[in-house]
Amino acid sequence: MISQAITTPPEFETIDAELGAGSVIHLWLKARRPDRTATLSLRIDGANVADIVTGRTEEFEFHEITLPAGGRAELGYNGSDVAISVVYAFDPARVLEEGIQLLRHAKENASPALASGYHFRPPFGWMNDPNGFGRFGGRVHLFYQHYPHSPRWNTMHWGHAVSKDYLRWKHLPIFLFPASELSERADGRGGAFSGSAIPVAGRDGEEIRVFFTEQMRDRKPEEQIQLSALCRDELSAETAAIILPARPEGLDLTQDFRDPYVFKGPDGLWKMLLGSRDKAGGVVLLYETSDPQGADGWTFLGPLHREDRYGMTAAECPCMVPLGPVDEDQTRWALIFGLLTSRDPATGRRNMTSITVGRFDGRHFLPELEQELDFGSDAYAFQAFVDGDGPVGLAWLANWTDVSKKEDFPTAMTLPRRLLWNGEAVLTPPVEGIEGLRKSLLDSRRLASGDRLEFENGAIEIELDLSAAGGSFELYFDHAEVDLGLRLGTDGLEILFDRRDGKASPRYLAAGARPSHLRIFLDAGSIEVFADSGRWTGTKRLPGCAEARAARLSAAEGVVLSARVWQLEL
Ligand code: FRU
Repeated sequence: MISQAITTPPEFETIDAELGAGSVIHLWLKARRPDRTATLSLRIDGANVADIVTGRTEEFEFHEITLPAGGRAELGYNGSDVAISVVYAFDPARVLEEGIQLLRHAKENASPALASGYHFRPPFGWMNDPNGFGRFGGRVHLFYQHYPHSPRWNTMHWGHAVSKDYLRWKHLPIFLFPASELSERADGRGGAFSGSAIPVAGRDGEEIRVFFTEQMRDRKPEEQIQLSALCRDELSAETAAIILPARPEGLDLTQDFRDPYVFKGPDGLWKMLLGSRDKAGGVVLLYETSDPQGADGWTFLGPLHREDRYGMTAAECPCMVPLGPVDEDQTRWALIFGLLTSRDPATGRRNMTSITVGRFDGRHFLPELEQELDFGSDAYAFQAFVDGDGPVGLAWLANWTDVSKKEDFPTAMTLPRRLLWNGEAVLTPPVEGIEGLRKSLLDSRRLASGDRLEFENGAIEIELDLSAAGGSFELYFDHAEVDLGLRLGTDGLEILFDRRDGKASPRYLAAGARPSHLRIFLDAGSIEVFADSGRWTGTKRLPGCAEARAARLSAAEGVVLSARVWQLEL
C-alpha cells in the first residue's frame, strides 16, 4: 500500500506502508541544498525508530533499515530539503516469492508505464547487459547492469530479479553496489560492471558465486579488475574479493579487461572468459581454476579467440555454451561476444554480435564457422547458461549505437531464447513457454487476405507460413513514432525501420535468408523476428514506448499459406 499524506506544512512529505517486523527498507536520498542537511525520520506506529541525516548533494546516498517491530511504518521528511530517488521494502523471508514493494520513486527514474508490455524491464532507472543469468535454488535468476537514479547509463550496480518460467519476473533488492568512492558522484567513473554467476556447493545447500569487473576510471595501473562474491541466500552478496588484480602480461592489451563469464569446461574445471582488446582488435582471454568453489586459483591459459573485423575495438561480454552433451567429443561449443564499435559496411549496422562455433577441449578453441547472432543487432551482451537439456540465453534489447548521455533511453531484455545446433547453424528460437502468452487468436483470415488488421494493444505475435521458402512478402505496421515493417525478398529477410528524422537508417538485413515460417513479436519498444525456428533471428529496439496499432500484409496470391495473429498477455 502506497500513500502520500497531505499534511501541513505542504513541503512535509511522508511515505507509509504496513510492514512486518524484520522487513527491510532500502532508500536513496540526498540534500537538495548544500546549506541544509537532509533528514528523514522513520516512525513505526507513531514511535520514532531511526533518523537518517545526510549533507550529500551530488549523488543519492544509500541506506538500509531493518524494522525492529512491525506496524505502520512512516518515513517523514521535508520535501524542500530532501530529494528521494527510490524507496522499496521487502520481507527477506518472502521476497523471493513476492518481490520488493516499491514505495516511492522520483519521476526522473520512472520506468515507462506500459499497460501490456511482456518484456523484462527494470522497476526504475537504467538497465543494460544481463549478468549472472542462471538457475539457482530452483529459480531462474537474472542480474543486470543497473543505475537506479535515472534512465541513463551511470555508476553501475547489479539489479536482480527471479522467475520460474523466464517470463514472469519478481524484482528483488539491488544485489551489487558500486565501491563507496564511486557512489559519491554521478559521474559514471565505473562501478560493478558485467559478469556471471555459478552454482557452488555450500554448507546448507546450493550457493551462488558471482564474478564481475570493478571499473574505476583513471585507476592506475588497472582500470578494470575482477572480483568475486558469494551469495548464500539468493538475495544478497557477501563482501567481494579481488580474484584477478591485473591483465595478463606480454600481450600488449589495452585497459579493456572485463565481463568475466564462468562456466564448466569439458574437463570438469571452471573456466573464465574475459573480453579484451589489443592493437589488432578484440581478444577473448581464457582462465581456469581447479577450485570447485571458483573462489581462488584463477590462472591464465592464453587468448582463446581473436576477432578484428568491422573495425571493432574490444570484445565485450564473451559467453560460451556447449551445443550438446559436454562429455562428447563431437559436441560443438558456441562462443558469443559483442563486437564493440563494429560497423558492417554492407548494411550500416553497428555493435554486432557474433557466434563462433567450434570444438573446445577446455584449453583450445578450434573455430569451424561463424554466424551472426541477430540481424537486428539489438540483442547485445547476450548471456546464456545450460538449463536442463540445453542452453538458454537473453540479451539487452539495444546496443550502444543509439545511447546518448543527453537522452533517457528506457530498455528491455530480449525474449529468452534457446540455442540449438542443427548440424549447420545455431538456431535461436524463443523458449517454449512463450506460447503461454497467447491470450486470444485475434485473426487468421483478414491479415492473410490483405486487409488492415487493428490490434487491441501492442502485445502481438504474428505467425506466418509460406508456401515456399523465401516467398516474397511485405508486412507493414502502423506505429506512431517510426516506419516499421518486415520484408522477405530476393536479397533476404529485412526489418524495415525508419525514424522519420530524415537520417538514413542502417539496413537490418539477414542477407540471403529464405525462411518459410516466421514468428514476429511486437511489444512497446521492440520487434523480434524468429524465422525458421530462429535460424535467422532479428531484434530491433524501437524508440519511445508507443505500441504498434495495426498491420497490413502484401504478397502475391498463394505465397502466404496462413497468417495468424495473437494478442499476448503476461
Ligand atoms: C557491454 C558493456 C560491458 C561492461 C558494461 C558496463 O554492454 O560495455 O563491457 O561491463 O557494458 O555497463
